[in-house]
Amino acid sequence: MSPTLIDRLPKAELHIHVEGSIEPDMVLALAERNGLDFPHKSKAGLLATYEFANLAGFSAVYASNSCALRTERDFYDLTYSYMRRVREDNVIHAEIAFAPQGASHRNVAPEIALEGVLAAMDDAKAAFGMTGGVIIGCQRHRGAEAGLNMLRRMKPYRDRIMALGLASLEVGHPPRLFLRVFEEARDLGWKTVAHAGEEGPPEYIWEALDILKVDRIDHGVRCEEDPRLVRRLAEEQVPLTVCPLSNIYLKVFPALREHNIARLLRAGLLVTVNSDDPPYFGGYVNANYAACRDVLDLSDEEIIQLGRNSFIASFLPEEQKCNYLARIDRIVGAAPEASGMKDVAPIGSGDRA
Ligand code: HPA
Ligand code: ZN
Repeated sequence: MSPTLIDRLPKAELHIHVEGSIEPDMVLALAERNGLDFPHKSKAGLLATYEFANLAGFSAVYASNSCALRTERDFYDLTYSYMRRVREDNVIHAEIAFAPQGASHRNVAPEIALEGVLAAMDDAKAAFGMTGGVIIGCQRHRGAEAGLNMLRRMKPYRDRIMALGLASLEVGHPPRLFLRVFEEARDLGWKTVAHAGEEGPPEYIWEALDILKVDRIDHGVRCEEDPRLVRRLAEEQVPLTVCPLSNIYLKVFPALREHNIARLLRAGLLVTVNSDDPPYFGGYVNANYAACRDVLDLSDEEIIQLGRNSFIASFLPEEQKCNYLARIDRIVGAAPEASGMKDVAPIGSGDRA
């Protein structure tokens, strides 16, 4: 089958939880490698738990499977596998979230885990010609004090961390509670992002913007309930890292045809397409693009715009952003029928930004 526009489109992934990128086979293999008494022995048994009523239901399975991750090598293997897999989707830049608090609560030193993640990213960048960075996530259900302790513990890695994020159970844990954590992150020179408006109300998006002063909103899809907020997001071009399939699997929307990503894009918001936790939610980033194309009738121009948005919304330096945007233009910028080109740049074709 010839590659589609989505296959050929260079893209960045900006919303992916590294622990949530663990494939079921790897959960079982690592549980065995680490000699753990894991509740599921078979893949079928494990997969039977992949049915989620909401974010809380998912988080329980996610936390249980994350217990398989014990050593630096585990985190290395996990991260490297993700990078290798998404390079097939033409992801050339990845901003990956890692949750130090999850590791410490499983009695894994977060420094050790982070070393594994960083080493894998370095190796994958060298092997696949990619760029990327790590976003350390504050888990909101553990409270602000715990978040602050985590941030301070991670300070020795300040130069190797790109941003602070805010994730886990949203409702009942409004962004405003985490003001101190975000202030300290900004003082370290980090960018900041926060999950808001996934299950939580539009007010949480306002708080993330006005109190935490985040650079990007993760999800943000419930903004549509507040037209004034939609106008602001469009005017200020605040990036939203939308995860369409995640939103269906976690019942944020009843069906993909009711998802608002196309409407938000057409209203001029800086939306991007991402996978969140791909093995749990039916696919990696290209599966998310393809599902939106098929169900929401995205045009070729809109698909290209989404690819462009992924770099515009990234934390890359401006010059690198421009290089990547130029790469999109070279590869898919001119519609193939218009240019007469059947231009496909296969992975590793030597096309470097
Ligand atoms: N929302 C909040 N926290 C998360 C998610 C999500 O979709 N995935 C992994 N942690
Ligand atoms: Zn997420």
